[in-house]
Amino acid sequence: MASVEDPCSFASSSKCTTKHLNLSYHVDFERRVLKGKVALTVEILEDRCSSVTLDTRDLKIFSATANGQSAKFNMGPEHSFLGTPLEITLPFELSRGQQVIVEVAYETAPKATALQWLTPDQTAGKNQPYLFSQCQAIHCRTMIPCQDTPSVKHSYYAQVSVPKELVAVMSAMRDGQEPDPKDSSRLIYRFRQPVPMPSYLIAIVVGALESREIGPRSLVWSEKEYVDKAAFEFSETENMLKTAESLAGPYVWGQYDILVLPPSFPYGGMENPCLTFATPTLLAGDRSLSNVIAHEISHSWTGNLVTNKTWEHFWLNEGHTVYLERMIGRSMESEQFRQFKAIGGWKDLQESVKTFGENNPLTNLVPSLRDVNPDDAFSSVPYEKGFALLYHLEELLGGPVVFMGFVKSYIQMFAYTSATTAEWKAYLFTYFQDKVDVLNKVDWNTWMHTPGMPPVKPQYDTTMADSCIALCTKWTTAGEGDLGGFTAADLKTLSSHQVIEFLSLLLQEEPLPLTHVKRMQEAYDFNSCINAEIRARWLRMCVKSRWEEAVPKALQMATEQGRMKFTRPLFREVYNFDKFRDEAVRMFKAHRAAMHPVMVDLLSKDLKVDPTSC
Ligand code: BES
Ligand code: ZN
Repeated sequence: MASVEDPCSFASSSKCTTKHLNLSYHVDFERRVLKGKVALTVEILEDRCSSVTLDTRDLKIFSATANGQSAKFNMGPEHSFLGTPLEITLPFELSRGQQVIVEVAYETAPKATALQWLTPDQTAGKNQPYLFSQCQAIHCRTMIPCQDTPSVKHSYYAQVSVPKELVAVMSAMRDGQEPDPKDSSRLIYRFRQPVPMPSYLIAIVVGALESREIGPRSLVWSEKEYVDKAAFEFSETENMLKTAESLAGPYVWGQYDILVLPPSFPYGGMENPCLTFATPTLLAGDRSLSNVIAHEISHSWTGNLVTNKTWEHFWLNEGHTVYLERMIGRSMESEQFRQFKAIGGWKDLQESVKTFGENNPLTNLVPSLRDVNPDDAFSSVPYEKGFALLYHLEELLGGPVVFMGFVKSYIQMFAYTSATTAEWKAYLFTYFQDKVDVLNKVDWNTWMHTPGMPPVKPQYDTTMADSCIALCTKWTTAGEGDLGGFTAADLKTLSSHQVIEFLSLLLQEEPLPLTHVKRMQEAYDFNSCINAEIRARWLRMCVKSRWEEAVPKALQMATEQGRMKFTRPLFREVYNFDKFRDEAVRMFKAHRAAMHPVMVDLLSKDLKVDPTSC
């Protein structure tokens, strides 16, 4: 397959490719560092090769060897977010097809952006510290010197020494534990990941963890305070896995566990192989947010088995995953439910396009990431423009069953490899060779390389959305005199999905008058709602309508959990309420030390605060 340059990596995958990675870590909570070594089995792809370049960021490199012989190494210039290339000079010359084991001894920095170190105080149990990683997109290099590009796939093995009160888990199969022979106060946990995968899927958590079985191949992991709640919330996991397998083919990763992280975990979910990471904000108590698990399960095929070759092709991961997630919804609920979720997704896309600006090249389905930090580029665009394109193709080519046939075949075709948009498109044309005339009518250039909303708006079925639209219209058209007509009964027939949709619709409108929002609180009491998807939208709406009493509630939600999807819009809304701009900045500064490093970076930009100022 054609070699493509990854603008986010110094470690060119055309020169060599890592086959296996053997990691050993000593987790030091006092110094907030991982000290260890990594041995990379590297296959050389060019003749007369005498060096290997790896990605690093904020790593302290102690030494390097090649096949056991000591090797010279050199650190290149530091780039603000790409880090520093580490060039290891081999003490011999290799040719195409040969392998070398490169071993690097190193330690991470306390400010490593892949890692968040929590004090006991920041955990549910309050007794033990906690560490978690989040490598996607380009943070693995702050944790491991490696080819930190999704175009390279390798298996891995790891051993991790931790204080014996704590448990370590990784994105791999558990492979036993034993006392640390060097220190009787510690345990060594071992892991093996036999399926080749990209570096961004390496993940580690160390904490006072417990687990409970929720299915034949699934445990939930978390601090003991959350275990029962999590077991209830995610009890549909095995059904979802079976449904996904019937759609996409066998699940190849063995175990499928879910780990519920502390509240500062910055995403809803992360598809770490064998061990999905999930935010505690999914614990709504009614299983209503389990689509996030369907989404992460779907990544077991789209993302983890077939991977985007560079982050410019991120929509291949997320667009197909949203498509599969909604196909699981279709099987487990109904086609109308899938259509309803698609309507919500289109709205999320509109909001992202509005936030970025409709001419912003980052709203392209396939953006250029030259000199762009993937964290800054992150939005609903790859998810929902990607889904909209796939749904548009589904309609053109014969419906969900026919198109799912293509998606399954694409997965088989590219399994265990990484793909570009061009490769995906070429395969689409091959698969549908008798419908090429239809495919040629698609406005590919606008869909993929033009900013803003897509060229075609799919006509989704509105059966489940109608009641949300009707209630939204009732509120936006109500005069002061009509407010008495609203009662708690308005929501009686709406599911929590529909309440979320109702609030999303209102958020797209001009802010409601303050009298209306206050009346809504009297009638619906959203202030008491703990469902995070409802609460975040409600509080944003209140702040937009300039309800001063909602500001502390909004800032409280923004700081007591750290999911970026909620925290960033909540902070931005308060920041845009002139009277409270300083308060937003003050709260950010007060909580910054306890926030996830990626959140600090992005909120500093959102609130125009120097990330290093105090
Ligand atoms: N892989 C993503 C999370 C991610 C993307 C982390 C890019 C870092 C960089 C994950 O699968 C995801 O999409 N999570 C969503 C779930 C939602 C779309 C159902 C989230 O976190 O909200
Ligand atoms: Zn995803």
